[in-house]
Amino acid sequence: MGRFWRLAGVILLALVGLLALAQEEVDPFEEAQKQKQQLLELSGGILPTDLIAAQGEELFKAKRGPKNASLEACDFGRGPGRLEGVVGRLPRYFFDTRKVEDLDSRIRSCMINLQGLRPDQIRRNEVVAIAFYIASLSNGQPMTVRPLMPQEKRLYELGEKLFYLRAGPRDMGCASCHVTYVGRRAGVLPYSDILGDKRVASHWPAFRYSNDQAWTMADRIRACYSNLSMPAPDFYSEPIIALTLFMNAKAYGGKMDLPGFIR
Ligand code: HEC
Repeated sequence: MGRFWRLAGVILLALVGLLALAQEEVDPFEEAQKQKQQLLELSGGILPTDLIAAQGEELFKAKRGPKNASLEACDFGRGPGRLEGVVGRLPRYFFDTRKVEDLDSRIRSCMINLQGLRPDQIRRNEVVAIAFYIASLSNGQPMTVRPLMPQEKRLYELGEKLFYLRAGPRDMGCASCHVTYVGRRAGVLPYSDILGDKRVASHWPAFRYSNDQAWTMADRIRACYSNLSMPAPDFYSEPIIALTLFMNAKAYGGKMDLPGFIR
């Protein structure tokens, strides 16, 4: 008898657990849209991303640094001062720095070259705010990253290699969670199908309402290296740009939702 009740209890608990799981079976994108709507209604039409982008616009247009220059002359791939749609074309090769750069590293390069700042004077939160501003001018545009230059092809291949590489104490890599385990859960969230769902790479930078923070793709990649219990590559480093190039090229044709708003 005692054993029966214990068993019945276990089954009941399992059922309640399943029910809770079934209720959590929501599409994270739809859930984010819902939260966004609720926040818009509560705040009278202003999202945290709007505030960050506005702060970024101010920083972008202000004359700063030893050269007392703004970033308005920075070329993000469409010529100085042309910002519309540039995020969908990054990372790409730039002739002036002779490097493949993503949005974050391009902003940093211009702060160094145009404003005369030293690398150690560049504040990460300012780069993120400027990235939100520039991204806001690419909203609704398509992703069109295509590695054609040899330097871009090399980084694409590096990104692909890093994406499938398994290493670290758990012998896992990006593909373990974002290809093999797609649909399975990590806590409440199912793992995103990064290579199959074009929505994924096209909502960065994004505001994460679950921890009230602004993230660019670099922040996301670094957090995922911690998921792997592996040391995260430095900001603005080649592995981050390579992985971003690989994922953005895979999202070719996806429509950008910028700045993103995610869980
Ligand atoms: C241990 C599992 C795990 C591994 C390995 C992992 N991630 Fe993630 N990743 C997550 C989780 C959890 C999230 C948040 C939920 C989601 O969106 O999948 C996430 C989110 C992401 C997102 C945002 C997806 C979205 O829809 O907003 C990107 C991009 C990403 N990871 C890239 C990577 C890259 C690149 C690597 C390899 C360096 C990697 N991840 C390795 C667990 C992992």
